[in-house]
Order: sequence, then structure tokens, then C-alpha cells
Amino acid sequence: MALRFEDIKPHIGSRVVFDDRAELFTPEAGKAIRSKVEERTVLVFPQIGLTDEEQLRITELIGERVRLTARNNVQETDEDVYQVTLDPKINPQPEYVLGTFFWHMDGITVDMPPPFATLLSCRIAPAKGGETEFASTYAAYEGLPDEEKQDLEGLRAVHSVKASLSPIADAIPEKHRDRVLGIGLIKDHPLVWTHESGRKSLVIGTTADHIQGMSIPAGRAMLIRLQEWAAQPDFSLRHKWSEGDFVIWDNTGAMHRAIPYEHSTGRMMHRTSIAGTEAVQ
Ligand code: OGA
Ligand code: MN
Repeated sequence: MALRFEDIKPHIGSRVVFDDRAELFTPEAGKAIRSKVEERTVLVFPQIGLTDEEQLRITELIGERVRLTARNNVQETDEDVYQVTLDPKINPQPEYVLGTFFWHMDGITVDMPPPFATLLSCRIAPAKGGETEFASTYAAYEGLPDEEKQDLEGLRAVHSVKASLSPIADAIPEKHRDRVLGIGLIKDHPLVWTHESGRKSLVIGTTADHIQGMSIPAGRAMLIRLQEWAAQPDFSLRHKWSEGDFVIWDNTGAMHRAIPYEHSTGRMMHRTSIAGTEAVQ
């Protein structure tokens, strides 16, 4: 029997069901998973306990694996498997992971097409906090009133790492602050992405600093309202992690964030990424 998919919420999320674990590692499964990720935005594989090698195999069956984060971590996994952790022994520069507490899309400030998908395996589930939330930016765009859709046409937002870290800037030790926030990655994108498929989504998140041609207050207020709109319960999903859970999401059609957690919970996720195939346009 092939993989089966059960809807979690009407607009977002499917659970993957199968009889035999080996069914996950076939080219047919890679194709089926890719098109379900595009259709349902988030796929949850409950408690399948992947090894890194298995996670990389699934990643490569779906697309081209890509290394996303500048490697500040001291980790022993493959370089394409990033350990998402606040453990200072592995991650001596926690700002990037603390930045995941705020809505974002991965790789949106980098000079390459945004990664198609992000894949996370839960190695240590936190006892408290640390759920991951996803908000469909397709559903958010499609749900806007026509007049607002028209108002967004042609607008461009400027995204930067500095903006994405602005909520935690005060918490960065002063002697590191300028270096961490000075990361000069800046990129502007249309607010509405018309995908090659013809579908449209919003390109928003904490990386979005302001809107070109609008005053800073008006642009920021618009960006915050769009974030709140996309995060409404109908368009979003919260996943509470159990050890061994594996989740794949469409990074081109969703924002995501982690619910805050403490380092003391031991939370550990292993992350891989799949290259994007189209620039935002
Ligand atoms: C990331 C990320 C979310 C999480 O690693 O890019 O957003 O829940 N992680 O750890
Ligand atoms: Mn992320």
C-alpha cells in the first residue's frame, strides 16, 4: 500500500500514514510527499524516529538538499544536518535559534531562491514549550478581501537579518550586539508572490522591516496586520512534538515559529533543507 494522508485542519496540515516504514524511502514516496507538501503546506510523520542518514535520504528523494545556516555550531552531525538547540556546548551563538521564536520564512534574506521546504526531526522533545507553529501564507492571501488583495499588488518589503533579530536585540550581550545585528543580509521581495503554479502567497514575517515607498510606521503596521491575519487559527497549525516526530513544511507557502522554550528542557531538533526552484516574483 502506498503512503496515505489524513487532513489535520481544513486549510493546513496532513498526517502521513503507512504500513511499512520502507515505503518512505522510494522515489514514488518522494514525489508523493513533494506534491502533498505543496498542497497541504505541512506534513506530520508521527514518531518515525529517523536517523540522520534516513532524514538525508528522504530530503534528497524530495529535492536537492541545501545547507542553510552559517555554521557557528560545534556539532558532529553531517554539515547538511543542522542541530537546532540552545545547548551552549553545541551552539555558542544562540541568537539565530532565539530568533526562531518569531514568525519567519527560512532563508528569505539570502541571495538564492528561498528553500522549498524545511524538514525537522525531534530528537529530544521539550517537557514545556517548544511546539512549532505554521501559518499558511497561501491561505492568508486567498482569504483576503479582494480590495485588500489589490492594495498589496506591486508592493515590496525589505527583509533583513537585523529586522528578524530586532525583538531580541536588547538581550544580546552588548559586546556582541553590533556584530550579530550588523549581519548585512538585506533583500527586497514583492509582498505577494505569484508562483509558477499561478497560486499566490504572502511573503511576510519578522524579517520584513518596512515597505518600499511607504512611511516606516504605516509599512510596519501593515506588515504586522498581515502577520496577525496569516496566524489566525483557520490558517495555522501548532505541532506539539513527541520524540521521533518528523515534520516537513512548504517554506515558500508558510511562516513558522517555535513557542519559546528553555535550554534546560534539552529540546533538540535535527534540520535539513531542500533548495527552492523559483525566486520570489
Ligand atoms: C529553524 C526553525 C523551528 C523550531 O530551525 O529554522 O525555525 O521549532 N525552527 O525549532
Ligand atoms: Mn526557521
